[in-house]
Amino acid sequence: MHNKLIGLFDSGVGGLTVLKALKNTLPNENYIYLGDTARLPYGTKSKETIIRYALQCTEKLMEYDLKILVVACNTVSSIALPYIKDKYPHIEVIGVVEPGAEAACNETKNNIIAVLATESTIKGKAYENAILKIKPTATVIGKACPLFVGMAEEGIIKGELAEAMAKHYLHEILLKTQKPDTIVLGCTHFPLLKEAIQHIVGNAIHLVDSAQTTAQKVQKLLKEKKLSLDVTLPHATMHFLTTDDVAKFKAIGEPFLGISLDKSNVELVDL
Ligand code: DGL
Repeated sequence: MHNKLIGLFDSGVGGLTVLKALKNTLPNENYIYLGDTARLPYGTKSKETIIRYALQCTEKLMEYDLKILVVACNTVSSIALPYIKDKYPHIEVIGVVEPGAEAACNETKNNIIAVLATESTIKGKAYENAILKIKPTATVIGKACPLFVGMAEEGIIKGELAEAMAKHYLHEILLKTQKPDTIVLGCTHFPLLKEAIQHIVGNAIHLVDSAQTTAQKVQKLLKEKKLSLDVTLPHATMHFLTTDDVAKFKAIGEPFLGISLDKSNVELVDL
């Protein structure tokens, strides 16, 4: 059981920011990551489509010997988590919304939190609900920033264009008299744009994302369930599945993961 895999999936390469945090926290574990790059973005799709895609991704990963499934996509975590848990009750499933909400609640002093995410995540109000569950008196301001997804994938993450887009999405929030002191990057693509967003909002506002808190939650759960790796056996592998071009996954994914990807570890799959 201990040497089974930690499975992760996302609509594309964004979830690699979560894998990066997991790898830093649990460096010896074995990972399998699925990016449904052929059907990205999920964040603009209907609830029904997101649920269907999420169940197909889960089914694919269930072909592997998993000990835990990490839904490394805020959109899927917001919309489809109960459906995945319901269909696969035998496996531990962790989403990224609750850890992101926790990180924001730990950070805020004035109880005003803004959430930047995809359209579906904002519409589904999962972040708002998760934050209010922890801090019932908090004010939550949601803002859909769908174009950040494409920009992160195109590598437009700093400089004039990225900052202009951040200004476009954030100016209303920044004009408020009661400004948030904490902003959640509620999409796994957004941490790549952190520098540009921080430049626009200023250093008095804290930016948080769910990658680190999710990694800590996984670590805690593995310990609790006595599923942590048996370090005496061979370990530390990463395997990647993509539903579209392997070379593109490697090229776009590397900045998200922060290390170079071995092409032989990336496999094209159909869902
Ligand atoms: N990475 C996904 C998320 O965390 C968003 C990308 C998409 O729209 O598919 O919400």
